[in-house]
Amino acid sequence: MKIIEEIGLMRAEAVGIRSANESLALVPTMGALHRGHIELIRRARAVADRVVVSIFVNPTQFAPGEDLEKYPRNLQADIEVCKAEGVDTLFTPAVAGLYPDGFGTTIDVGEIGTKLCGLSRPGHFNAVATIVLKLFNISRPTVAFFGKKDFQQLSIIERMASDLNLCIEIIGVETVREADGLAMSSRNRYLGTAERKAAVAVPSALNAASRLFKKGVRSSGSIISSVSELLSRESLIEVEYIKIICVKRLEEVEFIDEKTVLALAVKISGTRLIDNLELC
Ligand code: PAF
Repeated sequence: MKIIEEIGLMRAEAVGIRSANESLALVPTMGALHRGHIELIRRARAVADRVVVSIFVNPTQFAPGEDLEKYPRNLQADIEVCKAEGVDTLFTPAVAGLYPDGFGTTIDVGEIGTKLCGLSRPGHFNAVATIVLKLFNISRPTVAFFGKKDFQQLSIIERMASDLNLCIEIIGVETVREADGLAMSSRNRYLGTAERKAAVAVPSALNAASRLFKKGVRSSGSIISSVSELLSRESLIEVEYIKIICVKRLEEVEFIDEKTVLALAVKISGTRLIDNLELC
């Protein structure tokens, strides 16, 4: 496996791959790789001639006071994971390489970035779209993989690829869960024993919502009330939002009769977790 830090070298590598008519899959990550990332890599490995994984903890997508400093970093362990999964190239750019002095151009994803997680994280999705576009431009993928746990991020990247005619296939991969249902996330490492126990209420509440939906309940209000009531039983959980939104416009719906997602964000002793459930 090649490990490339320098942007020019990564670009040259990508140009070489593409001019040999090989397909190239990119798996953009912020490292601290877990089974969710491994699933993305395996899906990439299954479809592309070459797999590039990028590891970059993007400072611009963290607001002041968020967890940039303490975000888990373990490059050596990540290298081992990538080697074991048959990754061809690991791209580990430096902050100064991606954001040199004078850097000023950013993507504005529009209204879609101001909803859901965008309400409490203003500017976050513009920063995500900007770094993802930079990673696309450097590594020239034919296809790129993102987890469905970050449902809003995935929608925004799909929209960007379409709006800007990127000619890159964006593939969303099912959320990988712990045995008790908790969605895999690098931030789960922040949870202490009590917090980790409380966190199970999130997938349990989503399962309850799924059961209601399967029984025929179509009122968003009823499903949201039930999820909210279940989460309120856990004193450590502070709900940020619980919303049922249509997939196309990311707008809230009162009645579920099209492709919708129940999306939620909670904080457990300061650790922010998101999860979602596809309805319809
Ligand atoms: O989902 C992530 O890990 C990040 O938001 C991404 C897509 C790598 C951009 O920094």
